Amino acid sequence: MMNSEPTKPFSVREIREQFPALKRLVYNKNLIYFDNGATSQKPQVVLDAINKYYSKDNANIHRGVHYMSQKATTEFEEARKIIQHYINARKSEEIIFTKGTTDGINLVANSFGSLLKAGDEILITAMEHHSNIVPWQMLCERKNLILKVAPINKKGELIIEDFDKLLSKNTKLVAVTHISNTLGTINPVKELAEKAHAVGAKILVDGAQSIQHKKIDVRDLNCDFFVFSGHKVFGPTGIGVLYGKEDLLDRMPPYQGGGDMIERVTFERTTYNELPFKFEAGTPHIAGGICLGEAVKFLSSLDINAIEKHEKELADYAQDMLDTFEGMRIIGEAKNKTSVVSFFVDGIHPFDIGTLLDKQGIAVRTGHHCTQPLMDFYKIPGTVRASFAFYNTREEIDKFIAAVDKSITLLK
Ligand code: ALA
Repeated sequence: MMNSEPTKPFSVREIREQFPALKRLVYNKNLIYFDNGATSQKPQVVLDAINKYYSKDNANIHRGVHYMSQKATTEFEEARKIIQHYINARKSEEIIFTKGTTDGINLVANSFGSLLKAGDEILITAMEHHSNIVPWQMLCERKNLILKVAPINKKGELIIEDFDKLLSKNTKLVAVTHISNTLGTINPVKELAEKAHAVGAKILVDGAQSIQHKKIDVRDLNCDFFVFSGHKVFGPTGIGVLYGKEDLLDRMPPYQGGGDMIERVTFERTTYNELPFKFEAGTPHIAGGICLGEAVKFLSSLDINAIEKHEKELADYAQDMLDTFEGMRIIGEAKNKTSVVSFFVDGIHPFDIGTLLDKQGIAVRTGHHCTQPLMDFYKIPGTVRASFAFYNTREEIDKFIAAVDKSITLLK
């Protein structure tokens, strides 16, 4: 079982030692990895666990009496418990393994969505990732539901008064990002959950950009669903988690049919397995689940409050430095933001800056970041986005700022 208290003091230098990818060269320059919003690097313990699983322990789970299958099953289910404790879910049955955040949202849209009736409303915000827009649009089209979008102000903050006006007894689900992948805005999801519940709606929190930066306590947030991806929280790709309250998951029909999600199959009728297996059809990403457990164990050995403070300082520092450039527009200036700095320089395409930064060994993301409605709102083609993790340093930001300066000079 995982310790609830961090076991090591927060030291960026020591943490960096555990991430082999951070030591590599790109174009003969030390890599500066500022694309953590897209995916994070992996610590040695996770790399070792992947190697160990496939080289020694590979077997299918929930299916065999043999030693190897039972060992894999135990480790997979232990990982579920590690994640349960980390996010403070009541039961491990409330932790559904998915392919990632997108898969989790699609599961809820299809399963919970099937319980909704024509005219019911779903409320999202203007800062959602496409994965928290499109599944709801598809559902609304299929079931004649109504999608409402709560607007944001120019700083990139949710306008709470407008959110309140759009919320009504017709709202059945609020689906909102915890932290915007493009703006870094932290939404007040605990307060939004209270508001949703007051009108009888449920709330889904997209935690893809929050679980790696903040302590997540799903009981304290009182969210009905919380989704995240393994690869953004220092684990493998292709694995993620849907947390759902047990009574809700119990009432929801299965999403996909197949092996493992059944209790009894006949040609006339099939009955379904209990939670969490009802939602896990087919052989899951076993190594992914086990190694996500390792990643969460690694994260829980660190001081999450120190991580949050460090990352906020990095983001504030980078933003203040960038703000001094002529023609610079910071996209996302919420009072409550973290870990992400997006910017657009007048007259220069973000892609060109990103390409020149890359040549200097600096990895950032450029483009619309799967938030095209946000780009329309700001009337820009895209941004350059630097997104930080706990292993980034102030020295890296100094080099990044110098590289941005050089790139702008070359492109102007
Ligand atoms: N959603 C990921 C990002 O923001 C891929 O980059």
